Amino acid sequence: MYGMLLESVQHYVTEEYGEETWLNVLKRAGYHNLIITHNLAYSDAIMLTVAETCAQYIGTMDADGFLRFFGRCFVRYFSHYGYDRIVRANGRCFRDFLHGVDNIHHQMKFSYPRMVSPSLTVQAEDPLGAVLHYRSSRVGFAQYLIGQLYEVAERFYKTRLTIRILTEAPLGKNEGVHVQFRLDFQNSAYVQSATVPITGTRVFPPLAGSTLLQLFPFCIVFDCKLRLRHVGNKLRSLLNTNLIGLPVADHFRISRPRVAFTWNNIISLSKVVFELEAFPKIENKRQYFRAFKNKGQNKILRSIACPCSRLEQDPSADSKSNFFTDPMPSTSAVSEATTESTGQLTLLLKGQMKYLDDWNAVMFLCAPL
Ligand code: HEM
Repeated sequence: MYGMLLESVQHYVTEEYGEETWLNVLKRAGYHNLIITHNLAYSDAIMLTVAETCAQYIGTMDADGFLRFFGRCFVRYFSHYGYDRIVRANGRCFRDFLHGVDNIHHQMKFSYPRMVSPSLTVQAEDPLGAVLHYRSSRVGFAQYLIGQLYEVAERFYKTRLTIRILTEAPLGKNEGVHVQFRLDFQNSAYVQSATVPITGTRVFPPLAGSTLLQLFPFCIVFDCKLRLRHVGNKLRSLLNTNLIGLPVADHFRISRPRVAFTWNNIISLSKVVFELEAFPKIENKRQYFRAFKNKGQNKILRSIACPCSRLEQDPSADSKSNFFTDPMPSTSAVSEATTESTGQLTLLLKGQMKYLDDWNAVMFLCAPL
């Protein structure tokens, strides 16, 4: 994980318990030579080990308590970088924040290109709170997230919150963890949205389906059986194959949020930004690039390989001995490396899943990244 998270721990542990205590914690945790730099990558294990060591050495809380404290520290700390404005811009109330929190990390992708961020989605709501789903490739950070949520609720929205873990289960084989949290708070914004009719909204004339499809040349449309009904004309020419009638999940993989490609997931996550990976069918890579360069689509092809799949699977990222790694390469450099190393080109599409009543289908309104 990026050094910024550990930097926040260092800053507040030092402020609260003194520099000597911090240095002793590091020493006992086996990281006495650790120098934390904002934009270098460190092993995830450091944060967990430091929390345990704080519990043993400082002793004012248990390890979970320290992890929650570290989560709070991070929220206080990111304001130093002006990121509090991004959180505030997410909405007027805590409910808006919860619905948009997944998109915060999306916005950070260019500042932290090697970030492997968790996926946070609201999947049920009522007047007294909400159920938040947290999916992460990192195991052991649920308490950290609880600390972050408490701090955001209090600091930015003056909201009193209680959080309980409903379920905690592994995410596939060695793929991380899926935790469901119950968040209790006065969800008055939900009550309002459910009862107050929206007045003064302009009613626009209906739009022909063909016009809509022309407006989104990279879109896909699929029905409730998850069969492809339409592929935008630009996307079709990039993919180089006819996919109509075929199962969408066979040809597009959801890379964000971390959910399975099911109808219910897609319908319930209409406010979340999705990233889909598509796999163009290419027989001759050189010819393919030349063809699209001639058509002026070389910009899209430059970003055609997705860096995240390689990084998420990087087995070295977690080894203790390797906690201090290299400076971050640029996104395009990573893309090229991925292309070189795997030989499999992928096209990354980012956008929103929109259910269309008239068609009883979902349209993925997207653009290539
Ligand atoms: C705008 C401010 C934010 C920035 C710049 C930011 C950035 C980051 C970065 C760089 C990481 C490390 C990922 C990596 O290195 O692979 C991270 C992890 C994380 N962030 Fe954020 N984040 C922000 C806000 C939030 C908020 C508001 C929440 C939730 C309340 C959140 C939840 C998490 C969690 C739970 C992790 C680590 C554990 C995991 O991966 O499951 N972040 N964030």
